[in-house]
Amino acid sequence: MEFPYNEKVLEHFRHPRNVGKIEDADGKAMEGSPACGDMVSVQIKVDEKTKRIQDIKFESYGCASNIATGSIITELAKGKTLEEAKKISWKQASDELGGLPAIKAHCSVLAVEGLRSAIRNYEEKHSLVTDKTPTTIETIEKRLRKVMNPLSGLDLVGTKLIKKIELKEGEVKIDVDLPENHQFANSIKEEIREKVESLHDIKKVSMTFSG
Ligand code: FES
Repeated sequence: MEFPYNEKVLEHFRHPRNVGKIEDADGKAMEGSPACGDMVSVQIKVDEKTKRIQDIKFESYGCASNIATGSIITELAKGKTLEEAKKISWKQASDELGGLPAIKAHCSVLAVEGLRSAIRNYEEKHSLVTDKTPTTIETIEKRLRKVMNPLSGLDLVGTKLIKKIELKEGEVKIDVDLPENHQFANSIKEEIREKVESLHDIKKVSMTFSG
């Protein structure tokens, strides 16, 4: 059988660089692809003074293209400033890999989105975001689409685990369709908090688990 991938892509797929998690990461993100439903997580450690990415790790729940792109973008991003790393594009990642099949463009887009979201997460936590657009229920829903439901490997909103989102004067209330004592309740709670609390105008996040 002939692979649609060149040697460099296969090499990164077989031996991906920078795989894993970072203990006490400064910025992290989980991104899902609307095209295929696959997910990727990216974590970064940032030098506070120079704003350079000191360390970066990724985990892919996607295909070979996604794994190879994740691997190459972590190599490209390491040592760069946040501003420089934001400019890394999927096209650049694909060129660096010697080209990916056109049908696989969304897989490299997914990896690049993961990197950009991890940077954004860092900026939000450090009040570096200049865009102060008021948060809406849609903004929150969009964020929750990036939290994985470990029961299915798909996102919380798509799998209808989020029953209701309320937003009033910077306070968010989220209803989750899962029993409080469910084995994944705590990790889901933590992930929701992480995603929503960092929004610039959100003061409080509370959740009810009732499944
Ligand atoms: Fe989903 Fe490649 S097909 S990431």
